[in-house]
Amino acid sequence: MKMEWKYLPAQDCYVAGNISYCEAPANPGLQTMHIYVPACYMKPDGQVNPEGLHTSGSGVSYTAKTVPVILYNDIGGYSECKPAGLIDRNKEFVEDGFVLVSIGARGRQSVDEKGNPTGKAPAALVDLKAGVRWLRKHQNELPGNYDRIISVGTSAGGAMSSLLGATGNSEYFLPYLKEIGAEMDERDDIYAAQCYCPITDLDHADLAYEWMFQAKAVSTRSARELPVAMDGFHRDLSAGLAKAYPSYINSLSLGAELGPDGRSGSFYTGLMEKVSQSLAKFLQRNVGYAESLVEELNAGTDLICWDGESAGITDLDKYVRVFIGRMKPCPSFDGLSLETFENQEFGTADSPREHFSAATAKIFGQLQDGVLNGAASEDTPAKTAAQETAVPESPIPEKWGISPEMSDRARHFNPLYYLLAPEKESDIAPHYRIRLGSKDADTSFGISYSLYLALQYAGIDADYALVWGLGHCNADYPGEFAAWVESICG
Ligand code: DHB
Repeated sequence: MKMEWKYLPAQDCYVAGNISYCEAPANPGLQTMHIYVPACYMKPDGQVNPEGLHTSGSGVSYTAKTVPVILYNDIGGYSECKPAGLIDRNKEFVEDGFVLVSIGARGRQSVDEKGNPTGKAPAALVDLKAGVRWLRKHQNELPGNYDRIISVGTSAGGAMSSLLGATGNSEYFLPYLKEIGAEMDERDDIYAAQCYCPITDLDHADLAYEWMFQAKAVSTRSARELPVAMDGFHRDLSAGLAKAYPSYINSLSLGAELGPDGRSGSFYTGLMEKVSQSLAKFLQRNVGYAESLVEELNAGTDLICWDGESAGITDLDKYVRVFIGRMKPCPSFDGLSLETFENQEFGTADSPREHFSAATAKIFGQLQDGVLNGAASEDTPAKTAAQETAVPESPIPEKWGISPEMSDRARHFNPLYYLLAPEKESDIAPHYRIRLGSKDADTSFGISYSLYLALQYAGIDADYALVWGLGHCNADYPGEFAAWVESICG
């Protein structure tokens, strides 16, 4: 295959754009990628330069044969995405001397020319896999080490990154890959996954959200609107979902337990330790002002301890009240009126939006059956006047069931399923790095922390940290991603 390379002087790199990575794309404009190559690895005639060498600031050198390949997806909100150009979120990969493959993918709203849905789960993941397979097929024509593919994504894109890492070569995806004309003789496992604030474990994300945010018994109708008080129905639902989270976590046997109150056990203390370490790192980087920063952050509370070296935050409820605040309504992911990104992601050919969480359906059903009425009263403060008069957030539907087919589909779109599977179903990436902002309210901290514990359980090298003061974004300190890549690739 002849690739057309163009030199970009501002970035001193070559780009081959809009490469189709499958032969029967459902959405030809989306299922493409751009390949960016630092100029040192290429000759001006578009051939690979075997003598080309890049040496990083820390003295690590790569050649055209050894340089790691960053597979960057710009997926957000489970939407479709075209391959991103060189933007703030990805250009550092080229500046750091890596090959950058920026990939597009179908998403929750994608349709074909007849208007039929084409991008429902697991389509985006299938597209990333097809991209990996195409790169392997063409690796001899390209600079880069295609045994060192490192996936990077943020939020829904971070979830995709976690899935790409967990599902390598899984047979489950073969029919989907065949359907779009992917390279069927190639592998789709990857070497490492960088997951920024992954919005994953969608089938249990409602439980995790209420476990973390329930103490804040207010909600919002949308991310941008002012908080409103939850009515009694939603407070009971919130309490029921929150209460179910410890049993769910404990059922995973992650080697860390969550106490029945949700605020004790090694899962809880381990996570709070990660939050504390995030603050300690921030204070150590600002050591000249650390005392006054702590005073300011504490703002009259005794939430934070700081001894000049390590920090301590042990109360998740106070932490949420002081630093984060709730962002989403209850339930947050499998919406009562099918209003969320995720409901659309799990739509089918016949219905554009679907329920998908058996765990949420179960708790909702219990509430409708009267089993959970008043569940909130033991857990949450007495209703305020505002709560007494609050209007329901959305019309309350009849209870619903989740079909076995939908449960199976949601399970196969959950990295934990592959990491914890007793029978090996996939080739899991040997390295993971997870980062999220300490103010992230788009999903519960429990989601990324349980992913981290599951990786450890599976014997995978996993690095997990929160980055203090940042919200829902590709939270990181400058230079740390590249240092991680060097540490795992040598
Ligand atoms: C994203 C954010 C969300 O709150 C969500 O539920 C799903 C995806 C995102 O930013 O990709």
